[in-house]
Order: sequence, then structure tokens, then C-alpha cells
Amino acid sequence: MASLITTILIISSVFMGSSNSMGVDYYKETCPEAEPVISKIVHKGMINDKTVPAALLRMHFHDCFIRGCDGSVLLNSSGEEEAEKDGAPNISLHAFYVIDHAKEELERKCPGVVSCADILALAARDAVVLSGGPTWDVPKGRKDGRISKANDSLQLPFPTFNISQLHQSFSNRGLSLEDLVALSGGHTLGFSHCSSFQNRIHSFDSLNDVDPTMSPSFAGGLKRVCPVHNKVRSAGANMDSSPTVFDNAYYKLLLQGKSLFSSDQALLSTSKTKGLVGKYAASQQHFFEAFAKSMIKMSSISGGGGATEVRLNCRVVN
Ligand code: HEM
Ligand SMILES: *[C@@H]1O[C@H](CO)[C@@H](O)[C@H](O)[C@H]1NC(C)=O
Ligand SMILES: *[C@@H]1O[C@H](CO)[C@@H](O)[C@H](O)[C@H]1NC(C)=O
Ligand SMILES: *[C@@H]1O[C@H](CO)[C@@H](O)[C@H](O)[C@H]1NC(C)=O
Ligand SMILES: *[C@@H]1O[C@H](CO)[C@@H](O)[C@H](O)[C@H]1NC(C)=O
Repeated sequence: MASLITTILIISSVFMGSSNSMGVDYYKETCPEAEPVISKIVHKGMINDKTVPAALLRMHFHDCFIRGCDGSVLLNSSGEEEAEKDGAPNISLHAFYVIDHAKEELERKCPGVVSCADILALAARDAVVLSGGPTWDVPKGRKDGRISKANDSLQLPFPTFNISQLHQSFSNRGLSLEDLVALSGGHTLGFSHCSSFQNRIHSFDSLNDVDPTMSPSFAGGLKRVCPVHNKVRSAGANMDSSPTVFDNAYYKLLLQGKSLFSSDQALLSTSKTKGLVGKYAASQQHFFEAFAKSMIKMSSISGGGGATEVRLNCRVVN
């Protein structure tokens, strides 16, 4: 009798341990070291290369916007299929090795347990924290997908999008206008290549060479770095005045006509979104709270059931 009860207890705890629902304590029993290991590796990556946090935050955004947060952005192209990361909008995606290092260490500590999609979600959070931004508890339990197609990357929002196109792109994924304004604040970190804002500084429209909503001095500086026939492939500009610090400078500059993309400027084109930009420009604390809340939403986008495995190597399906 006692052994029957023990057996039932063991069986039920196995079922509870393999529960599919996401939660902040998902790895509490199976891999308690997961979060400290990932933070340590992101920190090490950042000390060697200060562009790592921006890269990880953007990588997570791309992952979640295509087939949900399923690690699809991490997969390499294979013989038959060109992967998402090799699609046209991949420009500047880098630092995949940081995720690989975390995965290798976690495979030694708790083999086959922590998904690549969860590693990326945690690494993006750590990237924000280590850059001076807010922290939040990341719900975990994502599974890794087996599909990654270069053409899918065209479903990402383009930097030329206006507010209705941005709204559509976000609402398709269950994200609101509030989420759009808060998450665009991710553009407080990192760097952009000329091609991403070229439309605003050369032949903008039939009347203007430069987007008239741009600060003339700011546009002048960008035109010098990015001439019409730009030959320097690496040329571009920092996303804001403090590209390695997670702060609200992006919103302050946006209000001064000093944002890089049409999609940034578009946030000023409705009173609702403009009001939020003003709020975050005035209060870093309000921005941080909104950003953390919206990141939890973005990092919970699911792709509709295709993702079922925990990859052993983030670059290849099992
Ligand atoms: C609202 C729609 C968005 C558009 C149209 C957009 C577009 C872009 C583009 C074109 C770049 C520059 C790529 C290059 O030229 O190198 C970029 C960079 C970046 N984006 Fe976004 N983005 C959007 C939303 C987001 C979100 C939601 C996040 C994260 C929360 C994010 C985080 C970043 C970061 C951190 C960089 C800098 C990357 C680096 O320096 O490596 N973006 N984005
Ligand atoms: C994935 O691609 C990268 C860059 O092309 C390469 O260095 C790496 O060896 C590949 N990894 C696997 C597991 O195929
Ligand atoms: C981006 O895609 C191009 C091909 O379109 C490829 O040559 C390049 O390696 C890709 N970059 C990354 C970081 O995967
Ligand atoms: C590629 O993606 C675009 C935009 O999502 C879509 O219109 C087009 O049909 C796709 N092409 C292929 C070959 O799947
Ligand atoms: C945004 O662009 C689309 C496509 O060009 C257009 O149909 C729409 O009217 C534009 N919306 C605004 C608010 O400009």
C-alpha cells in the first residue's frame, strides 16, 4: 500500500515536472542554474564586445515576430532551405555565438532541458538589465521550432512603415499601440546601417530631398555619413546618443526630430502614440515599467503549436 502511494506520488510529480504551461519557475527543479549561467555568459560577451546587448535584444524581437518565439532565428541555413537569419532584413543580426556558449554550458549542466528560445528570451532580458534598463521575470517553457525560412523575414515590420502598417504588424501578433510605443524604445540601444534610413535623407518625396520632420542639422550629419552612392557597407549611425545605455534618450531625441527610421517618426503621427512618446521622454521610470510589461507580452508570442523540441544545438534541429 505504502509503495503504491509512493508510486502514485512519483508518477504525478513526473507529470507536474513535464507540464507544458509556461511559468517563471519552469526550470526550478530541472535546471535551477539556467538563469545565472545565461546572465554570466551575456555579461562576458558584453565585456568583450559592447554591441552584444543590442544584438541580443534585436535577435529576440526577430525571433518572436516570425512564427512566435521559437528560436527559429537561431537556425542555420541547411542544404535545402535558406534560413530566416539569411533573409534580407537580417542586416546587423550578430552575436549568435553568445547563445551557443550559453547552450553548451547548459547542455553540460542539465542536458536536453533548456530550449534555445528560452535562452534567447533570458539573454535579451539580461542584455537590457546589464545596459542599465529595467528587469522582469521571464516566463519560460518555450519549445524550439523546426522551421526557418529566409522569406519569412519579410514579415518583419520595415523601417519605412507608417503608423497604420506598424499597428497592423503588431496587432497581428496580439500587441497593442501601447506595446508598439514601449517596444520601439528598444531603439535606445545599438546601431543602424545607412540603408535602413536612406529613404529619409535622399529623394524623400517629390517636394523634399530630406524628410521635413527631421531636424535639419541631424539630417545633415546623416547625409555626410551616408552619401547617395554610399560605398562603405559598414557605414551608419548609432540608434541614439547613448547606444550602449538603456535609457529614455530615444524618446527625447524623437521629439526633437532626431530619430533614424520613418517607423520611429511615425509614433508622433497620432495623438495617442505621440502622448506616450511624451510620457516616456518625461519619465524614464514610466518607460521602464511599460517596456518590461510589453517585453513579457512580446516574448510570449506563440507560433501556433509547431514548436515541440528542446534543441541540443541552437543552430540545427534535432
Ligand atoms: C517597430 C518596428 C521596428 C522596426 C521597423 C525596426 C527596424 C530596425 C532596423 C531597420 C534596425 C537597423 C538594422 C540595421 O540597419 O543594421 C533596427 C535595429 C535595432 N532594433 Fe529595431 N525595429 C523595430 C522594433 C524593434 C523592437 C520591438 C526591438 C526590441 C524591443 C528592436 C530592437 C532593435 C535594436 C536593439 C537594434 C540595434 C541592433 C544592433 O545594434 O545590433 N527593434 N531595428
Ligand atoms: C552555422 O553557421 C555558422 C556561420 O555560417 C558556422 O560558423 C557554424 O559552424 C554553423 N553551425 C552549424 C552547427 O552548422
Ligand atoms: C544575411 O543574409 C545574407 C544573404 O542575404 C548572408 O550573406 C549573410 O551572411 C547573412 N547575415 C547573417 C548575420 O546571417
Ligand atoms: C515571401 O514572403 C512574401 C511576404 O510575406 C509573400 O508575399 C511571398 O508570397 C513569399 N514568397 C514565397 C516564395 O513564399
Ligand atoms: C500607410 O501606408 C499604406 C500603404 O502605403 C497606406 O495605404 C496608408 O494609407 C498609409 N497610412 C497612413 C496613416 O499614412
